[in-house]
Amino acid sequence: MCGIVGILGKHEVAPMLVEGLRRLEYRGYDSAGIATVNDGVLDRRRAVGKLVNLSDLLVHQPLAGKSGIGHTRWATHGGPSATNAHPHRTGPVAVVHNGIIENYKDLRAELAKAGIDAETETDTETVAMLTKLHIDQGMAPVDAAFATVERLEGAFALAFLFDGEGDLMVAARKGSPLAIGHGEGEMFVGSDAIALAPMTDQITYLEEGDRAVLTRTSLEIRDEAGRLVNRDQRTIRMDAARVDKAGHKHFMSKEIAEQPTVLAGALSAYLTQSGIALPDPGIDFTKVDRLTMVACGTAYYACFTAKYWFEQLAGLPVEVDIASEFRYREPPITPGTTALFVSQSGETADTLAALRYCAGKADSIVSVVNVPESSIARESDLALPIHAGVEIGVASTKAFTCQLTVLLLLALKAAQARGRLSDDRLTGILADLRALPGTFNAALDRDHVMKEVSQDLAKARDILFLGRGLMYPLALEGALKLKEISYIHAEAYASGELKHGPIALIDTSVPVVVMAPKDSLFEKTISNMQEVMARGGKVVLVTDAAGAAIAGDEAWKTIILPQVPEVLSPLLYALPAQLLAYHTAIAKGTDVDQPRNLAKSVTVE
Ligand code: F6R
Repeated sequence: MCGIVGILGKHEVAPMLVEGLRRLEYRGYDSAGIATVNDGVLDRRRAVGKLVNLSDLLVHQPLAGKSGIGHTRWATHGGPSATNAHPHRTGPVAVVHNGIIENYKDLRAELAKAGIDAETETDTETVAMLTKLHIDQGMAPVDAAFATVERLEGAFALAFLFDGEGDLMVAARKGSPLAIGHGEGEMFVGSDAIALAPMTDQITYLEEGDRAVLTRTSLEIRDEAGRLVNRDQRTIRMDAARVDKAGHKHFMSKEIAEQPTVLAGALSAYLTQSGIALPDPGIDFTKVDRLTMVACGTAYYACFTAKYWFEQLAGLPVEVDIASEFRYREPPITPGTTALFVSQSGETADTLAALRYCAGKADSIVSVVNVPESSIARESDLALPIHAGVEIGVASTKAFTCQLTVLLLLALKAAQARGRLSDDRLTGILADLRALPGTFNAALDRDHVMKEVSQDLAKARDILFLGRGLMYPLALEGALKLKEISYIHAEAYASGELKHGPIALIDTSVPVVVMAPKDSLFEKTISNMQEVMARGGKVVLVTDAAGAAIAGDEAWKTIILPQVPEVLSPLLYALPAQLLAYHTAIAKGTDVDQPRNLAKSVTVE
């Protein structure tokens, strides 16, 4: 959700800024811009739309300079336009920002009285305006920026650049992530290490409330109270920051295809000869009375799936909540509660706020994250990485299946600790899990079937997804994937709920995707499928060979996946949820990796 990059370099920075922004474009793509200082003169270029428009502009109107900041935007305040694009400039100050300045209206009113008027509709511009006011009042640029940061309410990662200052950048972080990169006589700033990977693997993460003053050869960090502090400098694994499509047309298809590999990686990170091993301090499930799981979007559906696992396998009561609702309901957190937060980015604002609500109330804060340096990971008592590797496609795919893998291992660990799972049964499930990457590969071979079905789905205006038991959360995930990248209206229902209202939607124009492996609820799901067909609904049955033998002939289309044990079915049935959405979106000609209105890493409420 907005990406920022800053460079105090040895060479011309414009191409490096654009490359950094390219690697951050998944965070927002409705406009982009850069500012540089060249021979002491601050200047900027901004363009509405994708980053390529900024690149084109720079061909015709190049921007020289060895110091610069850049931004790729996901609009919050003010629509996407060149005027509202960052960097925002007022007099000698240019600023890029990720987050929301909540008190910008008050600040604007105050600034108007001082004779400084806004030119844009954004909250961010007030940061540049206020800093200019402070400079006008006689403050040096660093003091002016710090004094501005003191006044800001809300969430921000900020980078400041100043006219006349070719070797100075100020950065600040509160609520939105920010990394500093160290080079040889160069210094960098980025929303994440991925942006900086072509330039350096030496990274310092700013902590909550930190402000930093950078020159090419120095970095000074102060905490919220103004004290000078040391923050670790670490070496980032470069393969972890690789951002390429590896021959695929889209990041999404690359990430779907990577799943057998990353699932194997996630499993091997947690499985030992003797069973499942968690990093310290682990979780003593004999002392856990209740699990509260909170997340957003796809990560929420991973939690919802895990609820079935924790309840059925471990007999552990679980509450699952959408992060944006959770804290406002003020749910009581009773002793014996472990709070578990699932997030690919580890920076989702609502999930982080829910975590903070539980801190000090729950016995323990556990997170399941893809980015180990993220805020959610760092604020947890125990952070469990999912080892999915960088996920760039805005629609989450491999992160979902890796989240499911780690959550299933946790549920098995809980079941074992609570005496609900025999060693033999655990050994059997773990053997099946070890075989899953191979099974997933075999399912990927069914891609052409899903592509074919998608050609018909692409003609529909509305699509329903149905599932029961473990397949219900998967139906929800299938509908979410489809609507976010193909823009077709899709809804998911628990199969048994259909006759309580939604069945009124069924007619011959509505395809209904029924997720139904031949599991313990198969017959019931098939009865619901028949209710749909009796009303003219066109059923796409996603099942296995045993299920297809019973009900395949009746369906409009049938997709047959390899057979897996019931407990593992969500991991495999994530694939048709992803591929049907992917191929339908391709058939509709939408932008699969950067769907309209969306951004990855939602760092605002
Ligand atoms: C959907 C999708 C989103 C995210 C949600 C949470 O494909 O990607 O629904 O799952 O925004 O993001 P994280 O997992 O980063 O907290």
